[in-house]
Amino acid sequence: MENKKKLTNSVGAPYFEHQDSQTVGPRGPVLLQDFILQENLAHFVRERIPERIVHAKGSGAYGTFTVTHDISHLTRAKIFSQVGNSCKMFARFSTVGGEMGSADTERDPRGFALKFYTEDGNWDLVGNNTPVFFIKDAKKFPDFIHTQKRVPKTNLKSKTMVWDFWSLNPESLHQVLILMSDRGTPHGYRHMHGFGSHTFSLINANNERTWVKFHFKTQQGIKNFTDDEATKMKGENPDFSQEDLVNEIEAGNFPKWKLYIQTMTEEQAKEWRWNPFDVTKVWFQDEFPLQEVGVMELNEVPRNYFVHVEQSAFAPSHLVDGISFSPDKMLQGRLFSYADAHRYRLGVNSHQLEVNKCPFAVNNFQRAGHMADDSDYGDKPNYFPNSFSDVEPTESYKNLEYDLDNSRVAHFDRNQNDDDHYTQPGLFYTKALDQEARSALVNNIVGHLGGVDGPKRDEIINRQLCHFFRANIELGMRVAQGIGVNIDTNMMNHTK
Ligand code: HEM
Repeated sequence: MENKKKLTNSVGAPYFEHQDSQTVGPRGPVLLQDFILQENLAHFVRERIPERIVHAKGSGAYGTFTVTHDISHLTRAKIFSQVGNSCKMFARFSTVGGEMGSADTERDPRGFALKFYTEDGNWDLVGNNTPVFFIKDAKKFPDFIHTQKRVPKTNLKSKTMVWDFWSLNPESLHQVLILMSDRGTPHGYRHMHGFGSHTFSLINANNERTWVKFHFKTQQGIKNFTDDEATKMKGENPDFSQEDLVNEIEAGNFPKWKLYIQTMTEEQAKEWRWNPFDVTKVWFQDEFPLQEVGVMELNEVPRNYFVHVEQSAFAPSHLVDGISFSPDKMLQGRLFSYADAHRYRLGVNSHQLEVNKCPFAVNNFQRAGHMADDSDYGDKPNYFPNSFSDVEPTESYKNLEYDLDNSRVAHFDRNQNDDDHYTQPGLFYTKALDQEARSALVNNIVGHLGGVDGPKRDEIINRQLCHFFRANIELGMRVAQGIGVNIDTNMMNHTK
């Protein structure tokens, strides 16, 4: 008993009566003066915070990132200044559409969010396990996500609204094919690749910019569930991915991913066949080869899930000197939305929580707000310029200046001069998948698309079939046959 700590209330006062409320007589009623009872009940009902509006179910771990190849000619980011540099990092993997308690093996993209604690500040790369996305303008994101969630009246998921949206937005086809292949049901989080997906930029010491895409290749090998296995696992172990990640790290089998980049010069970007800032497109690896950069290893399960994983906050706007954004319209929308979500979900000082805090210097003039912690600034002045503090802006961190063409301001159609939604999905079908994977893709689509119902069923299915045909005739035929649609010549003409 002697080595045990005293039980205390939340402000340190020891107490004894943890299990029995204070009552008038042995049968009650209970006295209001039993403040321990009040404290425990009141804290308990406040244990939940708003879950993430997307990516609510997830798993996280700390680790290390190490630079293995020199890219200092491309970027002046301190972490990449020399081979051998390393930094602590945190990763959170997730499904997208489901709620916090939903099953890990749902067919869904997987979030692949990384936080690198670098000397020049925290760098977040908030990506997915897919190199592309369903849409290419942030304005469409809330509507798209509504289709992945529940019907407001019935509170049920609906394949009808999912395919209605996809069929009306053909730019989604590339990601839809990836999602419907067995890559849509990865075997936990260790056996999938990660992608920054968007085009970012690297800025070097000479203020030269190179466009870049980030790829993380799993060193555990790609492994997916079949549709049947994933469905079965939803019932057997809805927390499959969480258990797999925690158990493997605790057993010392630290999962690793190698970081590669693809780069494109500004001149190449002007000439390239597709818009290089369109997140529904990949850059072909034979044209823009992968260049190895480093390795990340996850080696520590956080000691408290809520504190570290639930309260982790990643934002594409958390960039560091030498790494910057691009004109990608989706990315630009995301630069706003994440910090906004954090202010709502965690409060204005979420960056002061341990998992989000920069372990190096933070010097600015933001003060107060809910749950403020003064460990960064103590009693220093809260205004600038001032005559008392030693904090001042550093000229070398000035944003790179650039010229815009004589551009017109308008709500440009996202597909204007950018409407080839079919070549890359077709190549995914013929080049990325082998025969077996193609059959799995077709079966998965047939199972899913076949679930569309209601008065618009035929219209939605036919519209989506046209997209499959335009990507690849064989794919269209196999799906059509699978769901029992007769192909009439009108439709075939439409696909030419
Ligand atoms: C989470 C918005 C597109 C990957 C979130 C969250 C929001 C959001 C509000 C919740 C953040 C939080 O509560 O901490 C958006 C918007 C998008 C978009 C507005 C389009 C304009 C994307 C894309 C990707 C992506 C294209 C990947 C390439 C993620 C990931 C998370 C997330 C991985 C979970 C981060 C975590 O683990 O905490 N998104 N998103 N999102 N998003 Fe997006």
